[in-house]
Amino acid sequence: MNERALPPPEPEAALLARVRAAGQGHVLRFLDALDGAARDAFLRQLAALDWDSLPELRRLARGISEGGERPGLAPDLAAAETPACETLGGPRAAAAAEAGTRALAAGECGAILVAGGQGSRLGCTGPKGIVPVGPLSGRTLFEMLAGKLAGIARRHGRPVPLAIMTSSATDDDTRRWLADHDHAGLDPAEVLVFRQSDLPSLDDREANLLLDAPGRIAMAPDGHGGMLPALERAGGLEWFARHGCRHVVSFQVDNPLAMPLHPEFLGHHLLAGAEFTTQVVAKREPGERVGVVVRAGGRTFVVEYSDLPAALAAERRGDGRLRFHAGSIAVHAFALEFLARAAEAPDPLPLHLAHKAVPHIDGAGTPVAPRAPNAVKFERFIFDLMPLARGVVLVEIDAADGFAPLKNPPGAAADTLAHVHAAMDAFARRLLGRAGVTVAEGVAVELAPWILDEADVAAVCPPGTHLAAPTVVGERRGGPAGD
Ligand code: UD1
Repeated sequence: MNERALPPPEPEAALLARVRAAGQGHVLRFLDALDGAARDAFLRQLAALDWDSLPELRRLARGISEGGERPGLAPDLAAAETPACETLGGPRAAAAAEAGTRALAAGECGAILVAGGQGSRLGCTGPKGIVPVGPLSGRTLFEMLAGKLAGIARRHGRPVPLAIMTSSATDDDTRRWLADHDHAGLDPAEVLVFRQSDLPSLDDREANLLLDAPGRIAMAPDGHGGMLPALERAGGLEWFARHGCRHVVSFQVDNPLAMPLHPEFLGHHLLAGAEFTTQVVAKREPGERVGVVVRAGGRTFVVEYSDLPAALAAERRGDGRLRFHAGSIAVHAFALEFLARAAEAPDPLPLHLAHKAVPHIDGAGTPVAPRAPNAVKFERFIFDLMPLARGVVLVEIDAADGFAPLKNPPGAAADTLAHVHAAMDAFARRLLGRAGVTVAEGVAVELAPWILDEADVAAVCPPGTHLAAPTVVGERRGGPAGD
């Protein structure tokens, strides 16, 4: 039940009749009390809803409240295995790096940053991308990630077109932030901001729409799988093609160490002629909140951590590794042609249901902030495209080099800002060490985001350099071009 891009105009009476016929007349309870602008906005929201899909959403939501089968769950996992992986730095590294470098130099690779999430676990009020994470620089997640792409672009002499996906929760603030911050140093002509849709949340008793204000239906972003229809609606696939891209890599806004356009990773994708290549890290503990890539019934797919039964998550093989150890970090390379084909398929991505506490107003208009789950939210996940792809490749990377997600507020056991800082610091020290640069005891260091490896360090800090004071290595006004 996506919002439609351009709802056909419908007379008000017909619209209201449609709402009532769908059994949702309760949402009109406060309509007559709304003033002109609020009433218009509400009618626009109602007109934009895909009422034809509501019965299906209600059927699915009833299933969850009755303890029934949830759709989108993996098929029987008993016989599933972890697929074979390429490894960054493994036996085919040189050939892969060469192929990836060639594609980057030919300008064939673009990127999609998914930044539509609400950051509810972190307690974000605005987009997560504007949270400062640079331990010394205070650079935001957007700046860290854009800086990496700028580093790749500089090295290969070709810009990397970047599409940023926002949602109703993050769109205005993201666009404003980009405009106020010089597009994080990227050329605005190389940046496309597009917005995913919302889906309604349904109460878990009657599977009815909820109001979160007298004139507003409670909605939530439709998951990063919303990327596919949203990109198509925004002309994003053609935009990438016009920029010469044949492959695009999607990655998440919460991971400042992400290396979406790593040449060797891209090279494995290209050499295999794969349509979907994904980065994985070794999942070490059953409780780590990462999805796992598995193979069963001749198909390769991701099982989300919340869907993996605890007993299976804890199983270990003879060598001590978890049986399901290919932890997805949500860095996915797609052949652009594959995305175009998938976008045309009818309903390519299943709906996933989540039982959540959703704030709303009750029948008297009083705000309710439930502590326990009271509603069903619906999302689509982009990784569910994997089984549709001709050719899937997994590339294992060292988490220390490419995965430090910011998910949780201070004090949590994992994935807090303190963990992110520690991972960035360790990464910086490793690269500096490899480049023969030493750092005085207790002195903080950070890498400018366009410093991608030890060769970049060496270009700004000759071997033998000793850093005696806190330093952002590679810092230049105006970004990488100023180096
Ligand atoms: C996600 C993955 C998980 C993976 C982990 C790695 C899903 C469902 N799960 O878990 O398999 O191992 O990251 O860190 O993705 N987003 C949108 N629009 C939405 C919802 C989310 O753009 O409607 C974006 C967020 O901005 C964020 C990313 O998707 O960049 C991940 O969302 P989040 O809900 O934080 O997923 P996790 O539970 O952390």
